[in-house]
Amino acid sequence: MSRQVQGIVAMAKGAPVELRTITVPDPGPGEALVDIAACGVCHTDLHYREGGISDDFPFLLGHEAAGTVSAIGEGVTHVAVGDYVVLNWRAVCGQCRACTRGKPWYCFSTHNATQKMTLEDGTELSPALGIGAFIETTLVAAGQCTKVDPAAPPEVAGLLGCGVMAGLGAAINTGAVTRGDSVAVIGCGGVGAAAIAGARLAGAAIIIAVDLDDRKLEAARGLGATHLVNSSREDAVTAIQALTGGFGADVVIDAVGRPETWKQAFYGRDLAGTVVLVGVPTPEMTLEIPLLDVFGRGGRLMSSWYGDCLPERDFPTLINLYLQGRLPLDQFVSEKIEITGIEAAFESMKRGEVLRSVVMM
Ligand SMILES: NC(=O)c1ccc[n+]([C@@H]2O[C@H](COP(=O)([O-])OP(=O)(O)OC[C@H]3O[C@@H](n4cnc5c(N)ncnc54)[C@H](O)[C@@H]3O)[C@@H](O)[C@H]2O)c1
Ligand SMILES: [Zn+2]
Ligand SMILES: [Zn+2]
Repeated sequence: MSRQVQGIVAMAKGAPVELRTITVPDPGPGEALVDIAACGVCHTDLHYREGGISDDFPFLLGHEAAGTVSAIGEGVTHVAVGDYVVLNWRAVCGQCRACTRGKPWYCFSTHNATQKMTLEDGTELSPALGIGAFIETTLVAAGQCTKVDPAAPPEVAGLLGCGVMAGLGAAINTGAVTRGDSVAVIGCGGVGAAAIAGARLAGAAIIIAVDLDDRKLEAARGLGATHLVNSSREDAVTAIQALTGGFGADVVIDAVGRPETWKQAFYGRDLAGTVVLVGVPTPEMTLEIPLLDVFGRGGRLMSSWYGDCLPERDFPTLINLYLQGRLPLDQFVSEKIEITGIEAAFESMKRGEVLRSVVMM
């Protein structure tokens, strides 16, 4: 048995996305069907459609989603029909060398659905980040479903599925920001703005937002930035030092992912401080830096994949903080759109007008 639903597919490199009829199989062992309620548009979806992630076209896009489990396969005990869930791309295996060493957030063998969703002619789809959620109903591994409090609306809950979790986790998990720290965040899109919210949640005393765009800086102020630096008008490193007694910040988060922003992070941090790279560089980017500076400045140079999150630990906790009014996740929802509005949402993203456009199904 299978069902036919509508979903958004990137058919070929650079081509506009298309609404297509997709065949979704019944869930097999360990799998679940999820009726999608809302799914955010992430920069990574655009990377997929531009061929920047892999050549495995056609892609079923969408991966920042919340919805309701509508069917489960054999042996699934982790979720039940009717559960309200956020989808994740880190269903840890529990058995790989990272999991067995007690660092499952590095799991090298995360679970996805075994069966394939297909086009009407049988062509197999590659779901974005193993999810594929710009669709009425999707098929995932049951472990990719994380139950959260249904009091949180889906456009808010779904944000935790990717970019916002990446930013929050870059500050809280990877950067280990703690009470009284000084923190600078370079690039205040959805990911960087979430890093700012994470730094506030962790009790940072000074939170410096750095961006080229004043609109992003204003949004960052609303999420907890105590100081704003427009690095198109002033030097980011000098400004961060001036705001931290001349020393630099304890933790600097690069949420852009370019050699020049990483260098700003490296030189904008205090001696023995921490750099966290959460923005994703492209293959041609390289870095040249005096090795003596790396040695002489000490500290920690980290990268953050998905905010080093553990969905089962972090999603319910963060949703509870949202419901308590301590984490303003709704400020990330810039607009709610229909499933046919994704190309327009990519354009708004490129023009820097939104933190997140969210498709309501
Ligand atoms: N590590 C992860 O697990 C993970 C997860 C999701 C997204 N990401 C990555 O995070 C990055 C940011 O994603 P996003 O959704 O926030 O993107 P975005 O396009 O919404 O935001 C990028 C921001 O950076 C600013 N910016 C660009 N160049 C800059 C510069 N030189 N100096 C200062 N600011 C600059 C832009 O004005 C914009 O506000 C992307 O590379 C994305 O792929 C990483
Ligand atoms: Zn593992
Ligand atoms: Zn994403």
